[in-house]
Amino acid sequence: MAVSLKQSISDVLRAAGSLSDNAAAQVSGPVRTGIDLGTATCVLVTIDEEGAPVWIDATPTAAIRDGVVVDFAEAAAATTRLRARAEERLQRELTTAATCYPPCVGEAESRACRFVLEAAGFEEVSLIDEVSAANLALGVRDGVVVDVGGGSTGVGVFRNGSLELLDDRPGGGHHLDLILSGAFGIDQDEAERRKREGSDGEFLSILRPGFERIAQNIADLTRGADDLDVHLAGGALMYPGADSVIAAFLDRTVHSYPNANLITPLGIARSVA
Ligand SMILES: Nc1ncnc2c1ncn2[C@@H]1O[C@H](COP(=O)(O)OP(=O)(O)OP(=O)(O)O)[C@@H](O)[C@H]1O
Ligand SMILES: [Mg+2]
Repeated sequence: MAVSLKQSISDVLRAAGSLSDNAAAQVSGPVRTGIDLGTATCVLVTIDEEGAPVWIDATPTAAIRDGVVVDFAEAAAATTRLRARAEERLQRELTTAATCYPPCVGEAESRACRFVLEAAGFEEVSLIDEVSAANLALGVRDGVVVDVGGGSTGVGVFRNGSLELLDDRPGGGHHLDLILSGAFGIDQDEAERRKREGSDGEFLSILRPGFERIAQNIADLTRGADDLDVHLAGGALMYPGADSVIAAFLDRTVHSYPNANLITPLGIARSVA
């Protein structure tokens, strides 16, 4: 089945990708900030009035697992660092921000995400589920939006622009690391390094069962929505060729995007009122 690369939002994401290596863009009008407290990475995105990113920063962390804050102090410290750096680069105080939680995480856990941002000095904090956030960036009217991060696969079915179904399952980049780690007899950190640095997809055949398992999860979570295209957000499926494996397994059209790990953080920022 076809894999297509969407334009427009892709241009925004490409520009966002280069921002992560550069100084902040000049901005004079109001800004909005989103923080993705991910299992693998905490990402902060600040956008301008048009919704385009002006500052992006990220820090690896083990303080959050699938939306559950497992080390509050470390999560707050990481968020405080991200906020301080953003304020310094943008030359302004940031007091309002949004953050997200995986679809099936409980209310108490999602509240903990809010407390992390408050502990980092944000006075006004809003919450959104990660799939709705991803779709605020992608703008899919009819389609399945999937966010595959380090630990979990969140899935949302959108029809006529409305969210019809929201669900998630364990399974993401960490599980792919486990496959590589087992195949080569290396530890998980080394597996993660090799997976990211092997840019030509050399491990695709080894990782294929992992991608197919993610595809099976997507199929299971979207029964009755087989007529809809699938849109891939999240870092785990940025591995070269992963989108084609998913498309072939599902026998559906799959849309992939550059810098897909920035889709949800961008959408979180766009969710700020
Ligand atoms: N270039 C890449 N190639 C392959 N995998 C990548 C690449 N970049 C990031 N990843 C993987 O993406 C995962 C992190 O993705 P993301 O930042 O979307 O997750 P997260 O939001 O921290 O996790 P979650 O949403 O599950 O809480 C990691 O497992 C990482 O190995
Ligand atoms: Mg995530």
